[in-house]
Amino acid sequence: MVLLDGTSCSEQIRQEIKAQVDAIKATGDRPPHLAAVLVGSDGASQNYVAMKERDCAEVGFDSTVLRFKDDITEQELLDKIAELNADDSIDGFIVQLPVPKHIDERKVILAIDPNKDVDGFCPENVGNLVLGLPSFVSATPNGIMELIRRYDIQTEGKHCVVLGRSNIVGTPVAILMSRNTKPGNATVTLAHSRTKNLQELCASADILIVAIGKMEFVTADMVKQGAVVIDVGQTRVADASRKSGYRNVGDVDFENVKDKCSFLSYTNGGVGPMTRASLLQNTLKAHQRR
Ligand code: GUN
Repeated sequence: MVLLDGTSCSEQIRQEIKAQVDAIKATGDRPPHLAAVLVGSDGASQNYVAMKERDCAEVGFDSTVLRFKDDITEQELLDKIAELNADDSIDGFIVQLPVPKHIDERKVILAIDPNKDVDGFCPENVGNLVLGLPSFVSATPNGIMELIRRYDIQTEGKHCVVLGRSNIVGTPVAILMSRNTKPGNATVTLAHSRTKNLQELCASADILIVAIGKMEFVTADMVKQGAVVIDVGQTRVADASRKSGYRNVGDVDFENVKDKCSFLSYTNGGVGPMTRASLLQNTLKAHQRR
């Protein structure tokens, strides 16, 4: 089994981006600028945004984090988004999700200028993705495809089962895997909580992409010998032996599944770092487009 190393792949991508940023700066142009909007004090969201800031610094991007208390009104947040849309010094921005319950997430996503939507969540970007037109592809599906590409994993004609139909991961990665591209050209089944015979279906997959949000959901009997398994799951579990006080557990039962796989991407050091690198790629693209 080859463990897919998203940490070193993402390091390679950051170096490639940094070289392009150096070239941009050498022309006298300003570097790409990513802004992140963070509402409230959710620990995981704060961590994610801090990592995004660190990634920006590493590749030479400018970055700005706008922090708001969780009592910000929906209108105040929408006004802030309108300001970011109009701000020429910012190439792209994200609103870290989830937002507090009194704010309608759909309104937030719809308010973002599609040309600055480096998360690729807006209808225009999702629609362009479906049509195979240039778009910002959301970071996790893009990171998965990049990981498959960099390990030269063959996908053409393979049966790919995607477990989980979220707008952010399952649905877009199912589209990308079915497209006439490399990687791509797979025969895709998008499975979810209502799918019948899930065990047999998963066990028929040459490539199994798991983003169902249920800890250790995929057991050994659901994995075909020699399958490629990409685990997108990340559930925090308290762990007093760690400095952070927690560890991440994937959607795949790692210990029992690992020996059946040809390639396996597990939660830590797999898709996560690739997702972060994809956001940088999209921000560079936004800068180039402007
Ligand atoms: N929350 C969890 N993942 C993401 C992401 O990729 N983008 C945003 N904006 N929020 C998230």
